Amino acid sequence: MSTNKVIVIGAGTMGRGIAQVFAQSSYEVFLHDAVPAALDSAVTSIHKMLDRAVEKGRMEADDVAATKERLHTVDATAKLTPCDLVIEAATEKPDIKIAILQEVQKFVADGGILATNTSSISITQLAAQTEKPDRFIGMHFFNPVPLMKLVEVVKGLQTSDETVAQTIAIAETVGKTPVKCNDHPGFVSNRVLMPMINEAIFTLQDGVAEPDAIDTIMKLGMNHPMGPLALADLIGLDVCLFILEVLHRDLGEDRYRPCPLLRKMVQAGRMGRKTKHGFYSYD
Ligand SMILES: NC(=O)c1ccc[n+]([C@@H]2O[C@H](COP(=O)([O-])OP(=O)(O)OC[C@H]3O[C@@H](n4cnc5c(N)ncnc54)[C@H](O)[C@@H]3O)[C@@H](O)[C@H]2O)c1
Repeated sequence: MSTNKVIVIGAGTMGRGIAQVFAQSSYEVFLHDAVPAALDSAVTSIHKMLDRAVEKGRMEADDVAATKERLHTVDATAKLTPCDLVIEAATEKPDIKIAILQEVQKFVADGGILATNTSSISITQLAAQTEKPDRFIGMHFFNPVPLMKLVEVVKGLQTSDETVAQTIAIAETVGKTPVKCNDHPGFVSNRVLMPMINEAIFTLQDGVAEPDAIDTIMKLGMNHPMGPLALADLIGLDVCLFILEVLHRDLGEDRYRPCPLLRKMVQAGRMGRKTKHGFYSYD
């Protein structure tokens, strides 16, 4: 399969990053979002990042101009045409994702792949709602997508080995390091990360230390590039809560119980960087 056209559904934090890396890697990208303002904001932010890359000497002006030309926004799914790869990166809600997948599967060309960037929803469950579960896969990028090398390639129960191999090859063409794992709640990344973030929030709730102290201890003591509370703010506290709820429900163990303080912060609308307020303030 030679892939040079990609559809990305969802132009939020992740979708815009995914669109950018594919456009930078010579793919024609068709980016769709249900909210027109999200598309405008995605294009503005991608252009800003590309212009900064020229200013800093990391990209040539000609490459940036060509990258911008390869990025197309599509305001209605009816205007899409079939592509070899469709990546769904919309809001982390099963109902929303299932509705999108059932609608956009007709835009996957014969022999193409339908992928989801979900952080926590079962790949097997989503695949079962599509017509070709063997051609369905998890392609889990990390935030910020242009900087993070990893793609967790998640094989659902019915995903074919060929789909896995082709997805790995595609991820490599956009300069990423794909790592395969099997579908299980939280995959590898969030199953290991989220209990650490949750424990850091319990540590704060118990008054053991202030946020900055907790993060500094974890950064300097464990050699982590960011502390767990700052990382939670970056991911989004609503996203962290949702993932912990999935782990708690699907694995059925108390150790995944979301910290009440996390729940309270989300109820208060303090979602982290995206609302300018989480464990830290961002002005
Ligand atoms: N934020 C992270 O750090 C992160 C990391 C890895 C994976 N993910 C996953 O990526 C996906 C997107 O997360 P995000 O952080 O970019 O969310 P986001 O809230 O920033 O963006 C989601 C976008 O989806 C759009 N959308 C909602 N319903 C839609 C529909 N029916 N059709 C088209 N677009 C629709 C919204 O308008 C919004 O622009 C989620 O599945 C999430 O779990 C997030």
